[in-house]
Amino acid sequence: MAIPIVALLLILLLPKSLSYEIVTALPDSDVDLLEFALNLEFLEAEFFLNGALGCGLDKVAPNLAKGGPPPIGARKANLDPLTSDIILQFGLQEVGHLRAIQNTVRGFPRPLLDMGPQSFGKLFDRAVGRSLIPPFDPYANSLNYLLASYLIPYVGLTGYVGANPKLLNATSKGLVAGLLGVESGQDAVIRALLYERGRTIVPPYGITVAEFTDRISELRNQLGHAGVKDEGLVVPPVRGAEGRVTGNVLAADPDSLSYARTPEEILRIVYGNGNEHVPGGFYPKGANGRIARSYLPRA
Ligand SMILES: *[C@@H]1O[C@H](CO)[C@@H](O)[C@H](O)[C@H]1NC(C)=O
Repeated sequence: MAIPIVALLLILLLPKSLSYEIVTALPDSDVDLLEFALNLEFLEAEFFLNGALGCGLDKVAPNLAKGGPPPIGARKANLDPLTSDIILQFGLQEVGHLRAIQNTVRGFPRPLLDMGPQSFGKLFDRAVGRSLIPPFDPYANSLNYLLASYLIPYVGLTGYVGANPKLLNATSKGLVAGLLGVESGQDAVIRALLYERGRTIVPPYGITVAEFTDRISELRNQLGHAGVKDEGLVVPPVRGAEGRVTGNVLAADPDSLSYARTPEEILRIVYGNGNEHVPGGFYPKGANGRIARSYLPRA
């Protein structure tokens, strides 16, 4: 009796453990954190590729979308040549990021993304505390697009800073360091371009570029429910580097180290409602992967 039971157990267990080893040798917790990052990379890739080219992953690198639905509302932005040139570079960089992550972990199909003007418009309305008239359109011109971009790589940056100390395997840490470097570079370029125009009033709203960034950062702090991890381009001196300056081209903590966010904080922000259990915002059906799905009711 004992032998057939052992044989049965082997048959039941072997294929699973074998297939698992073929997919990855990384600890499960590393896999979850790396896969979580795909959600943000998909958003960035689609936003930047579409903004510059008018098409996204389905044209540029269809295999990386893994059969996920096409984004809602993505479109080409009305960009000046310099902005278009930079945004195209960012979009293509995100293709590399998606490939690098998917070469390391199995990954999942692109989640449904809502990148329509209303999706950004709602966030901007909440940030300024009133309905902007006409509604904010991220695709209308370079300045609006850069303000919308202010929303994007910074969330990835804080997520990578948060993930890094939780990773166990050196391969995972190396990958996240490489992703973090470029995400923070993208954020720095966007912030520097906006900083140059900090006092410019964004037509027709009567709100300066610097004020917009301050309001958006404040909204993200509120949605994240984890204190100050976000700062606009001009801050009270106490928040500037060494408490001495109001200019704040890069956001950082009192030691000028980047802020870290957990996946939960990130979901609260990108869902636009401060609740990791309730999909919305850029992810109308929620983000994918074990971490994000663990907060959603089972379908
Ligand atoms: C880290 O993961 C890689 C790839 O899965 C594996 O080859 C390597 O042995 C792991 N390193 C450690 C220290 O576990």
